[in-house]
Amino acid sequence: MEYFIDSASIEDIKEAAMLGVLDGVTTNPSLIAKTGRPFATVAKEICDFVKGPVSLEVVGTTAEEMIREARELRRYGSNVVVKIPMMSEGLKAVKSLSSEGIPTNVTLIFQPIQALLAAKAGASYVSPFIGRLDDIGQNGLDIIKDIVQIFNNYSFNTKVLAASVRHPVHVLECAKLGADVVTLPVKVIHQLTKHPLTDAGLKTFLEDWKKVKA
Ligand code: G3P
Repeated sequence: MEYFIDSASIEDIKEAAMLGVLDGVTTNPSLIAKTGRPFATVAKEICDFVKGPVSLEVVGTTAEEMIREARELRRYGSNVVVKIPMMSEGLKAVKSLSSEGIPTNVTLIFQPIQALLAAKAGASYVSPFIGRLDDIGQNGLDIIKDIVQIFNNYSFNTKVLAASVRHPVHVLECAKLGADVVTLPVKVIHQLTKHPLTDAGLKTFLEDWKKVKA
């Protein structure tokens, strides 16, 4: 399973690289807005630093606008994956971009059949938002299970990219279910390193070490 960083903050991205878990990056308009910096500056900085796939999202609402934006976004780097919202116009854009060889990530997926449509249109990735499903009282992990099964049934190459991942249990369950990628805030990566017995064990080792005669 690959780990992407779900952030537009270059500090977060560099931190993940130092931790050895930077396979790629996903952004969205809200994450870009959070930086308070111009989109072009942020996009260039991320694409120059990251070797793996970087998802940059279109904001047009017609297929024509999305396709035009996609070509512009690809100027930031050959690793740019164009993030397209799940909607009919988005599917048209994905179909057309995939025939040009431009990779796409269909975002805002909340049910498995949306993922199947995106895969049929030629999407490189689908992004189901599991945390937001949990937020409304559905089990977000169910959608990962269903999409993995559907893609296996029909041998789609489209990767399942679990998004809106909020805590370590999401990561563990995504790995068990066979998600190809999880995209994480850097905070969750730090949470993944933790276990109370690790902390207690280290405390004891360090205390005992003080008793060792030099
Ligand atoms: O990758 C999509 C993600 O950024 C959404 O996460 O926590 O805003 O639901 P969240």
